[in-house]
Amino acid sequence: MAKARISVIGAGLMGHGIAQVFALAGHEVSITDAVPQSLDAATSRIAANLRDLGEDESAVARVRPCADLVDTVRDADYVVEAVSEDLPLKQKLFAEIERHVRSDTILASNTSVIPITAIMQGLAKRERALGTHWWNPPFLVPLVEVIETQWTSAPTIAWTMKLHEAAGKKPAHVKKDVPGFIGNRLQHALWREAISLVEHGICDAETVDSVVKASFGRRLTVLGPLENADMVGTDLTLAIHNIVMPAIDSRPEPSPYLQKLVADKKLGFKSGEGFRKWSAEEQATLRTKVMRHLKSMQDL
Ligand SMILES: NC(=O)c1ccc[n+]([C@@H]2O[C@H](COP(=O)([O-])OP(=O)(O)OC[C@H]3O[C@@H](n4cnc5c(N)ncnc54)[C@H](O)[C@@H]3O)[C@@H](O)[C@H]2O)c1
Repeated sequence: MAKARISVIGAGLMGHGIAQVFALAGHEVSITDAVPQSLDAATSRIAANLRDLGEDESAVARVRPCADLVDTVRDADYVVEAVSEDLPLKQKLFAEIERHVRSDTILASNTSVIPITAIMQGLAKRERALGTHWWNPPFLVPLVEVIETQWTSAPTIAWTMKLHEAAGKKPAHVKKDVPGFIGNRLQHALWREAISLVEHGICDAETVDSVVKASFGRRLTVLGPLENADMVGTDLTLAIHNIVMPAIDSRPEPSPYLQKLVADKKLGFKSGEGFRKWSAEEQATLRTKVMRHLKSMQDL
């Protein structure tokens, strides 16, 4: 793939990591942030990540921090936005960006849950706009969901898929702009039932997590759910669903158990207790374990 000029808006947790992936793939990357300290930290964070991963540290030279939004995007072939999760902010940014880029510059948002359609509806050229949903940390989790809206053109999707694939990511084309895209719909279908099991006294939170980690969680990186259904047979899958589906939680709103945790300020790691109690040491151990695991899967 030809080298592109890429602009990243927002240099936080996701933005600096996205810039890192594109710079490592050989693209020229400009990056901006409204908070000078975040922008100042971006290149040192990228250099530290590259060192830690044993990647080519010189790639950081292809990342140009830029205090001014217009300077950041002026020559861009592709702009990806990773600012705070705030619809009016994202709409305002894209309106401003569109005034300063070429008519064929592709515009992408890395929103987690805001509909891409809502973010991009005010643009003059909506066919060049789409969503690209990365996962944290962007340089270790391969998936990028590439989200099409009713206006996105086929060449915009094709070019963006190729851009991410050539940068070593695993792009997945999401053909309709639905809440949660693909990954988070699947993930939160599981979380709904996980919470329901605890709420209904079938087991405690620790047991839910142990069951997942010690059973189908072991297979998930090499065996997707539909591969698994085919492996055991669609007839067996149907027989299981006939019995299990009526029993599985299907409430269309967040669990009252979850709502009570939040009302009681049991917010998880940040308050020391959520579904379970967490000491600072336990939190650090779990975070380290996750990073070590993701790094060990880098070459899969
Ligand atoms: N954290 C995750 O796991 C994750 C995963 C996927 C997608 N996302 C999405 O990515 C986006 C960024 O999330 P994050 O976790 O990196 O947040 P973050 O808070 O770490 O970074 C956001 C950055 O945007 C900057 N910013 C705010 N307004 C700005 C503006 N007008 N111009 C330029 N910069 C501005 C902030 O200063 C901050 O540095 C959000 O939309 C989020 O929902 C996050």
